[in-house]
Amino acid sequence: MIYSIFSVPINEKSISGYCALTKKLINVPDMYNIPSNLPSSFNSSFDMITGYKTVSSLTTPLVSSDKRLLGVIQVLNAKDKSGRIIPFSADDEIIFTHFANTASSALERAHFTRAMILRMIKMSELRDPKETGAHVNRVAGYAVDIYDRWAYHHKVPPVEKEKFRDILRVGSMFHDIGKIAISDTILKKPARFTPEEYQIMQTHAAYGASLFTDTTFPGDILSKDIALTHHENWDGTGYPGWVDPATGKIEKADADCKPLGKKGEEIPLGGRIVAIADVFDALCSRRVYKEPWGENEVLEEMKKLSGSKFDPELMEYFFEVLPNIKQTQNQFPDSPDN
Ligand SMILES: [Fe+2]
Ligand SMILES: [Fe+2]
Repeated sequence: MIYSIFSVPINEKSISGYCALTKKLINVPDMYNIPSNLPSSFNSSFDMITGYKTVSSLTTPLVSSDKRLLGVIQVLNAKDKSGRIIPFSADDEIIFTHFANTASSALERAHFTRAMILRMIKMSELRDPKETGAHVNRVAGYAVDIYDRWAYHHKVPPVEKEKFRDILRVGSMFHDIGKIAISDTILKKPARFTPEEYQIMQTHAAYGASLFTDTTFPGDILSKDIALTHHENWDGTGYPGWVDPATGKIEKADADCKPLGKKGEEIPLGGRIVAIADVFDALCSRRVYKEPWGENEVLEEMKKLSGSKFDPELMEYFFEVLPNIKQTQNQFPDSPDN
């Protein structure tokens, strides 16, 4: 409860608020005895709830290269070698300022990357009216819900789990990014596709994956896997099968020289998870050729497809986390004009 998110206004009333306001480092030797040259007071309610006794504090702003305030960080209770709480020293101020500068650059880079990702998603939304922000957010949310359960059953260590769920969220948002390569007449067709159109539509998987083939970042590799394999089926009947998205070369062919479908665990975990999340969301949503299905109908269909279209183990976890999935669904409703 005490670690939940709460707001501190940017004003002189608190040390962190005053630090944000002035963008200056503040070193307070004793928070219960704030020097009179500072206008702030100490809110001791957190100490009261936690039993932690705040004494010394060092607070510094996180500022971007163009001097915008990104945040504030604060460390509490410096200790000497014997463990006694002491005020923060002038040396601590230098080290802490250096740390804050590094943290500010990292934050700035993260904001920039996030903005670029959202722009790419917005671009695909401009091309494909079905690929809305709400849809990609829901698919990413469901994917993380399902993965959390998988990680729990597979006893994945917390740090590894956190890392994977972060890149899974972004990779899931990119699942249909390859649709930007599909022509408007097909993408925006207000009816079902002909078999020829459907074949062209299927190329979006390899097109999407081809955007992520030139790097070795784990996030890019996962995004490539998801874009490439989110239409593969557990029983090997999906698409695009064994093709190299960078070159378009067939890696494994059937008797007709067509790519063999990937099956079972040949399909990467991210692709198997997003396949479930994407189909579930499509069934629950309105499409030009169909109304949204009712909940029971959707769940019946999902159950039916377990073991043929979907990984049956992951489907068990899907049903285990259904309450979370419904929560995610409510969190990102479609806008009324969809
Ligand atoms: Fe797709
Ligand atoms: Fe989708």
